Amino acid sequence: MVTSIPLSNGLHMPQIGLGVYLVTDVAECEASVKAALESGYRLIDTAALYRNERAVGRGIRASGVPRDEIFLTTKLWPSQYGPQKSRVAIDECLDRLDSGYVDLLLLHQPVGDVPSAWRALEDAVDAGKVRAIGVSNFRVDDLEKLLPTARIAPVVDQVELHPHWQQPALLPYLRQHGIVPEAWYPLGHGSRKLLGEPAIVAAAAAHGISPVQVVLRWHVQRGFVAIPKSTNPAHIAANLDVFDFALTDAEMAGIDALGTEKPMFRMPRWVMSVVMPMARSRPLP
Ligand SMILES: NC(=O)c1ccc[n+]([C@@H]2O[C@H](COP(=O)([O-])OP(=O)(O)OC[C@H]3O[C@@H](n4cnc5c(N)ncnc54)[C@H](OP(=O)(O)O)[C@@H]3O)[C@@H](O)[C@H]2O)c1
Repeated sequence: MVTSIPLSNGLHMPQIGLGVYLVTDVAECEASVKAALESGYRLIDTAALYRNERAVGRGIRASGVPRDEIFLTTKLWPSQYGPQKSRVAIDECLDRLDSGYVDLLLLHQPVGDVPSAWRALEDAVDAGKVRAIGVSNFRVDDLEKLLPTARIAPVVDQVELHPHWQQPALLPYLRQHGIVPEAWYPLGHGSRKLLGEPAIVAAAAAHGISPVQVVLRWHVQRGFVAIPKSTNPAHIAANLDVFDFALTDAEMAGIDALGTEKPMFRMPRWVMSVVMPMARSRPLP
């Protein structure tokens, strides 16, 4: 039974979902979403940037799973931030997803006109187009700017998070403010170095499961939401099969000890500030 995490606005979010970043082939994306929902997933994570929202919508409909059983997330890119631009962009996301609402809408990056975009997200909640709003890649200093002016608080911060990068500065702040940490790169982007760590390999052998399942179970027990990406139906099914066993305290501590000083993915802030507000300004399909 897939566990869910309560969000600060009263909704519940499944702890494991399917991420579809870089799944740009329409048929492959649709098939992956359908396979995930058929094998029990109820959380799908896409973004305007991924250019696959239409395929996600088709996968949801092809699965036959009722829309109200699914927790659907999408994200606005900085080129879509602005008083009017964000309002239009939200309606376009709903149109591409062919859904009257999304469960969670995130600001993808903390650059550009964040205040106007956040107000548009709040208005979308009021209008019933969005059930919860949150952020992605926001650091403590970004949240310190947003929170005092927010009428509706962010429920999650989706960030790089895995045993090699455990966000030591951000996590205590998120806990303090009731913001759920959601892990992108939950498997370290499939890193062999991470999945080959002796503590992870030993736990896998002890439980008769794979290193990937150990890492996903670690996310669940740490209280995170994780959205592993896969287009392989066997991987998709296996990644959800992490709810009928538990890692011991010693195994959890062994994996906690793998944290390093630096994230796997690094982009200087100045590059982010210059490039991201302009990127992807061409019309989405
Ligand atoms: N907000 C952001 O800025 C941001 C940034 C990056 C990612 N994300 C989100 O996070 C999601 C996940 O990130 P990610 O895709 O970069 O990394 P990831 O989920 O950590 O790793 C994906 C890799 O692991 C492999 N994999 C998955 N399950 C496996 C299994 N059971 N056994 C062996 N290999 C397995 C996948 O290959 P196969 O397909 O062959 O299984 C793929 O190569 C994205 O799809 C996206 O939704 C968000």
